[in-house]
Amino acid sequence: MTRAIALDGLSGAGKSTIAKALANTLGINYLDTGAMYRALAYAAKQEQIPLDIEDLVAAWLDQSGLELVLARTGQKTLLHGVDVSADIRLPEISKLSSAISALPSVRHYCVEMQRQLADQQMPLVLDGRDIGSYVLPRADFKFYLEATAAERARRRWRQMQDDTQGMATQSYDQVLTEIIKRDQNDSSRKLAPAVAAPDAIKIETTELTVSEVLQRILRLMRVRAAEDPKLGDFWQQYLVSDSVSGAENKR
Ligand code: DC
Repeated sequence: MTRAIALDGLSGAGKSTIAKALANTLGINYLDTGAMYRALAYAAKQEQIPLDIEDLVAAWLDQSGLELVLARTGQKTLLHGVDVSADIRLPEISKLSSAISALPSVRHYCVEMQRQLADQQMPLVLDGRDIGSYVLPRADFKFYLEATAAERARRRWRQMQDDTQGMATQSYDQVLTEIIKRDQNDSSRKLAPAVAAPDAIKIETTELTVSEVLQRILRLMRVRAAEDPKLGDFWQQYLVSDSVSGAENKR
């Protein structure tokens, strides 16, 4: 058993918002695995590493300087010690990260790092595309968040507007087109595509608020933990805190 909660889904499904809220409620750390692919895409661009020559990419990975610092207050993504957490959110890096994440050497590198972090920082919430299906197939809990492409694009666009005080450089239609393109890339790659693990619980979030998704996850975790002592013995301590009751009572 891996003491972890896998939260997978396509771009804009609300994974990172929910993962952060869930980790905060349970009082545990959170790993945004997409940030690793984003940081490598950003670094490769800065260092002009040609993504179409995989041998060069593979030889460079160890010198990319990628480092993740996990903390209750949030994750820091570093390159050679410099915090690039904000730089990796640009739309251009979103596109590049999807491309770089299809390279097997890059996936092996990131997956190895994710497994090590999950091992060292147990218990952990991880959000990604392939956590339940490939990275941690024995994760204690697996959720797969779904929403229509139109709703996911709306959420992304609204987030961009908030981040830029209404000055987002992309229109809603551009965001939607990119989301559909990224869905295709991430779901069709050969190695570890974005897919729900057979034992993942799918949650359709199009019509739900963040708080409703969080409540549903906590309720499902409670039910499973009550049914299965192997889960309950470990997770009960996290599921009984005041903040969990607070989150469950919030409407
Ligand atoms: O979740 P995100 O948008 O930050 O992810 C950026 C890209 O990284 C995404 O298009 C696909 C890739 N990714 C992946 O292949 N596997 C993961 N576990 C997480 C992200």
